[in-house]
Amino acid sequence: PANGQTRDGKGRKVIILGAGLAGLTTAYELGKLGYDCTILEARSRSGGRVWTVRGGTKETELTGTDQTCQFGNGLYFNGGAARIPHHHQITLQYCRELGVPLELFNGSNESAYLYNEGGAGELANRRMRISDYHMDMRGYTSELLAKALDQSTLDQQLTKEDVEKLVDFLKNEGDLNTGHLYKGTNRRGYKTKRDPGAGNTPGNLTDPYGLTDLLRSGFMQPVFYNNGDYAYEQQSTLLQPVGGMDAIPRALESKLPGKIIFNAPVTELRKTETGVRVVYTKDGKPVEIKGEFCVCTLPLPMLKNLESDLSGTVKRAADFVPYMKTGKIGLQFKRRFWEEDDSIYGGISRTNMDINQIWYPSFGLQGKKGVLIGYYNFYSRAEAVGNMPIAEREKMALTQGAKIHPQYPAEFENSFSLAWHRIPYSGGGWANYDDATRKKYYPSLLEPDGNIYFAGEHTTYLTAWMAGAFTSALRTVESIHARVGEYT
Ligand code: PHE
Repeated sequence: PANGQTRDGKGRKVIILGAGLAGLTTAYELGKLGYDCTILEARSRSGGRVWTVRGGTKETELTGTDQTCQFGNGLYFNGGAARIPHHHQITLQYCRELGVPLELFNGSNESAYLYNEGGAGELANRRMRISDYHMDMRGYTSELLAKALDQSTLDQQLTKEDVEKLVDFLKNEGDLNTGHLYKGTNRRGYKTKRDPGAGNTPGNLTDPYGLTDLLRSGFMQPVFYNNGDYAYEQQSTLLQPVGGMDAIPRALESKLPGKIIFNAPVTELRKTETGVRVVYTKDGKPVEIKGEFCVCTLPLPMLKNLESDLSGTVKRAADFVPYMKTGKIGLQFKRRFWEEDDSIYGGISRTNMDINQIWYPSFGLQGKKGVLIGYYNFYSRAEAVGNMPIAEREKMALTQGAKIHPQYPAEFENSFSLAWHRIPYSGGGWANYDDATRKKYYPSLLEPDGNIYFAGEHTTYLTAWMAGAFTSALRTVESIHARVGEYT
């Protein structure tokens, strides 16, 4: 990278705080330019919020509830970063460069379910296939629009031929009959156990739900919007590394032999005449290390508690930039009933209950056992669930999830849950700026404070994505190298 600079960084010592994606990438890129990097990492592993939970994974949240994951061989879920948009080329490029094999992540599955708890009417408190909801709403809204057009109410804007074309579009869009009415569609598929088959079994199509029932179902709430269709970051195609997201930090780590000091939480960060001085704890004792530059990738909730002589504006950013409260639970089941009974392969069910979503794995298809993400929630829901003892979280996930999948109680084996805002050395899911906090605090993180630089998703407009960590690392490397180039 580095602005076409040719001077190398040989002999220049850089101390990097944090072996998450931003810290690892900074060390990797600075290393290419000849800098001498040391990464201080508080945990015994790299990756930070890029974390795959498998059998044997241990974590102790801030209140001291410790868990050891009991998942069987080959079963896992990504506790943090879990999907890569196809347009996050910086992430995809690093996967290419590092030789991390990718596979498809199915983020949007029309066969997954919607479930609205506590609503009124025919369709409340029962699961509905996303495709049924989509197809029926497309049908009815197309029918209504086709009717309006047939009555030539729009003939001032459109020619007769235009109207005909638009009505043709609507007939296809909603699968309307020749009379331009929506009477159901084979796009909804067949009644359970009434699929087309051999001999005398042509299959029995499902009937549409009533428009009034749909409108009263509660499914118009934002929580049910299929982000897979709407949000830019969640549109098909999404990807994931084969074997778990931690393949990415592990690949970076393998490029940095001897450069990472693990179990080394930083306690002090100081500016000196010639650079920086950092104190960390190793085996219970304070150790001091000096360098010319520091790249601090600590999440802001961690920076908040660090003894430092950082400037007031940076300290205020650490104090006041809000971080997302968010949690997940992995549920191991002895049978992949969502595949066997419901034909669901990957994708997400959505509900207004505290579990918010159920994620079906996009790997290990047709295997014996499987791990679902039984909840993925945010804000106050994540806070409430995070506050529960581990056993209560599990109970909540099972009780609510069973409303969508009655197979839960019979098939459940074990779980592992996490609340990012309670996890040491992270303290939250990601920086959650609104316009005001972005304006007020963000700029101070973009400039070096003396010889201390900041990197991490919180220093980007790609917050909550690995692409943010990567791009922040490149930006920091370029600016350090440009500065070195200026005064050598
Ligand atoms: N990148 C995270 C995810 O995919 C957080 C996120 C959620 C970001 C929803 C944007 C929208 O879950």
